[in-house]
Amino acid sequence: MKTNSTDHALIEKELDDLIPSLNLKEKVAMMSGKDFYKYYFTVDNRQFGVRAYNAGGGCEQIDLAPLSYADGPRGVRLPNGTTCFPVSMARGASWDVDMERRIGVAMGVEARALGLTLLSNVCINLLRHPAWGRSQETYGEDPHHLGEMGAALVEGTQSQNVMATAKHLAANSIENARFKVDVKVSERVLREVYLPHFKRVVDAGCATVMSAYNQVNGHYCAHNEHLLRDILKDEWGFEGFVHSDWVKGVYGADAAESGLDIENPEPTFFGEDLVYAVKSGETKEAVVDEAIRRILRMQLRFSRAADPQIYSESDVGCAAHADLAREAAEKSMVLLKNEGVLPLARNGARIAVLGKLADKVNLGDHGSSNVTPPYAVTPLAGIEKHVAEHVELQSDTSGDPATAATLAAKSDVAILVVGYTYFDEGEFIPGDVALEQDDDEEEAHRGGDRNSLRLSDADVDLIRSVAATGTKVIVCVMGGGAVMMDEWADLADAILMIWYPGMEGGTALARILFGDVSPSGKLPFSVPTDENHLPYFDKHADDITYGMYHGYTLLDRDGVTPALPFGFGLSYTRFDYGEPTLEMVGELAYIRVELKNSGAVTGAEVVQLYVGFQNSIIDRPEKLLRGFKRLELAAGETAIAEFILDRTALTHYNEEAECWHLDDVPFDLFVGPCSDALTCCSTPLVWKD
Ligand code: BGC
Repeated sequence: MKTNSTDHALIEKELDDLIPSLNLKEKVAMMSGKDFYKYYFTVDNRQFGVRAYNAGGGCEQIDLAPLSYADGPRGVRLPNGTTCFPVSMARGASWDVDMERRIGVAMGVEARALGLTLLSNVCINLLRHPAWGRSQETYGEDPHHLGEMGAALVEGTQSQNVMATAKHLAANSIENARFKVDVKVSERVLREVYLPHFKRVVDAGCATVMSAYNQVNGHYCAHNEHLLRDILKDEWGFEGFVHSDWVKGVYGADAAESGLDIENPEPTFFGEDLVYAVKSGETKEAVVDEAIRRILRMQLRFSRAADPQIYSESDVGCAAHADLAREAAEKSMVLLKNEGVLPLARNGARIAVLGKLADKVNLGDHGSSNVTPPYAVTPLAGIEKHVAEHVELQSDTSGDPATAATLAAKSDVAILVVGYTYFDEGEFIPGDVALEQDDDEEEAHRGGDRNSLRLSDADVDLIRSVAATGTKVIVCVMGGGAVMMDEWADLADAILMIWYPGMEGGTALARILFGDVSPSGKLPFSVPTDENHLPYFDKHADDITYGMYHGYTLLDRDGVTPALPFGFGLSYTRFDYGEPTLEMVGELAYIRVELKNSGAVTGAEVVQLYVGFQNSIIDRPEKLLRGFKRLELAAGETAIAEFILDRTALTHYNEEAECWHLDDVPFDLFVGPCSDALTCCSTPLVWKD
């Protein structure tokens, strides 16, 4: 019975009728992508991302086309001049869930305008170690923050009736070893550290999940029944489908039994092998039926839902989206140091803009997340346009320290743009089917995990020789994660983390430098004073154990002060915090704090709430982020930041009992501007179950 209904129960009824009417071959045909190699090798000249790909699903009997797929997460990866937003890590630094939702809407609109039905844009793997090559594609080190940002992107994207993929389930945070590494992790650590953000996006209605390449506890993720069935589908009640990561993500037809619904991008195993497995009794036909029910359920729900607007190609890379990309870049840049040099005067100053990256289009990774926008404003172009004739501007982008010093000596201020490109960090794709890998030796070695957490010697030489002139130095750092800055930070009068800032990055940078807008970004990770304070990392690991602690929880445990705390960022204005208060209303705790902009300009502050576990009966982090609020206030303005917690903010996973448990102890509540400058609420939170 075909109904065209959007009602979920009626769709299930329709599938009850449809599925038994299909033969095994027809059903298995929905469980894989098709024609990827045909296009990639013979038509597209080994260029990846130049078209939408068939990623499984589709059913002729009910006029459903296969899923039409492209990647994210810094924009829609198709060659149509799509909007390039700042990378996810930058957006993580904005802590602005409302903006992330609007970015999701913009990506959804562009995806629909280009005929896509599935957008793989929600990368929420936890940043365990800053060397991870794909740091830039995720939002940061904290599960709560990751979940909130990811859920907002899901909601925005899916509001346009395009499905979003949350990836890569799970514990995918070493790039070079991603095809082989076995991540050993206890059930408790998995539940408390590596999965909460996935649960959050599933609860937000995310239609699909991509399994990771790596293994978790001895099973490749596409074959990991515990992850895909026990936890995701059974325990969390996920109604959507799981598809594999591409090309090297699946190892046999048995993945279907483990809970994988679609193999991408080709039916290497989910074709004849799977048909044979069912016929020979190795795989139950009910498994196939369940997989196609999940796929078709989502396809029907999304394809029948009423669209909020009509889509047209003119939406792609449009002015409104470029504006949003600028807003995102402005809100994401993090002022890490300012000895009174910023903001710059608009008139009369002599400014030198220096460094190899100053005029380079540097938008991030050239792997699956690459985006080709209609234009991109470099830092130099943005500054030039902003200051016009009011400022005497000189530039040198050779990176030569002597030339830079000569120009700096004739200037009042030197703006240095340094950091990384897609050669230093990004997706790493070794081997013969290497997507986009050409014969160029240098290109073949691009990306992967970072070899160093420091700036290159060339960048450090540049900073040193410019600083030696006595001219004020502003260092703008490009990159997707933490940078160790100790050997040069003292030489800088100001340091600004500008990330890979998207197509409007240069415009945003100029507006921040000249005070049109106050910086408001805050680091979504901590930076230690010493690399030995980080967890163990090996980019070539065959196996590795992930423990309870990394980032700020590890620094807290070891009692070491970070160079830059999690959640840290400066502003051109000042914020004063009141005393936090707690009120219990039924099953909920309301925590409130007054915030005042006591400086002279408008600015935004990210108020952070942490729960302290010092009284815990078992080993737990000293504190964990459990809420954040970004508030924009005019000079002199006051507002209340309010947080609402339920008991899940306090529980831990009890492995023996296989459930979440609440200790009967007082929990401290901390509120403040970053993880190292917190005020404890005078009333602890005591929860009786
Ligand atoms: C990446 C995924 C991506 C896929 C398809 C893989 O190598 O890990 O994030 O979605 O390629 O491009």
